[in-house]
Amino acid sequence: MIFEKNSSKYYFHYPFPVAIIGVISEGSVNFMSAAWHTQISFDPPLYGVLISPKRYTNQLIQKSKMFSVNFLKYEDYKIAGYVGRTSGKEIDKVKLFNLKYSRGNVLEVPLLENAIACYECKVVDERTYGDHILYVGEILGVHYDENFYKENLSRELLLYHGNDRYTFAVTDSVKFGKDEVLEELKKSNF
Ligand SMILES: Cc1cc2nc3c(=O)[nH]c(=O)nc-3n(C[C@H](O)[C@H](O)[C@H](O)COP(=O)(O)O)c2cc1C
Repeated sequence: MIFEKNSSKYYFHYPFPVAIIGVISEGSVNFMSAAWHTQISFDPPLYGVLISPKRYTNQLIQKSKMFSVNFLKYEDYKIAGYVGRTSGKEIDKVKLFNLKYSRGNVLEVPLLENAIACYECKVVDERTYGDHILYVGEILGVHYDENFYKENLSRELLLYHGNDRYTFAVTDSVKFGKDEVLEELKKSNF
């Protein structure tokens, strides 16, 4: 094992699902890619997204206090690159990349037409950690395409590997839960 005491670039825990963060504010609609995001609570349903203050998305969230989280299928990886490597400060991404979206059922947020699932989130908390701001959103609406989910799992979900590389879960998944743990315990001398 290599040991580094001060590693600022640490990507050893990737891949992450790609989340496309969508915001509408004062007539502007913008999307950006985010790899840093996480479920925080089931009840209430809270979702956290880490956004650098440099992003145009950050400016828009500061005004609207709401955002959408959109998940893509692997074949749409170019959308992640398009909105993740260009800034709404310079271009209208929706127009340039011909992104189709609808509006949320509950909130004024853009839902990407290509998404296989979307969350409508209202900001309930925000806090700066180092060079990113953690926005905690309460999920007020969930959309998903049942064609892409079996028992809440999607094999097609787009994952980000870091370094501009994209992937998906190529192998079959294996179930190993409490029942299986107990089964093993019964068989062994643990
Ligand atoms: C796959 C991918 C993941 C990214 N993850 C994040 C992230 O979690 N947080 C962040 O602030 N920027 C992230 N970025 C960078 C932003 O998406 C990028 O700076 C984008 O141009 C911001 O757009 P905006 O200025 O229109 O908001 C990521 C980029 C890519 C390609």
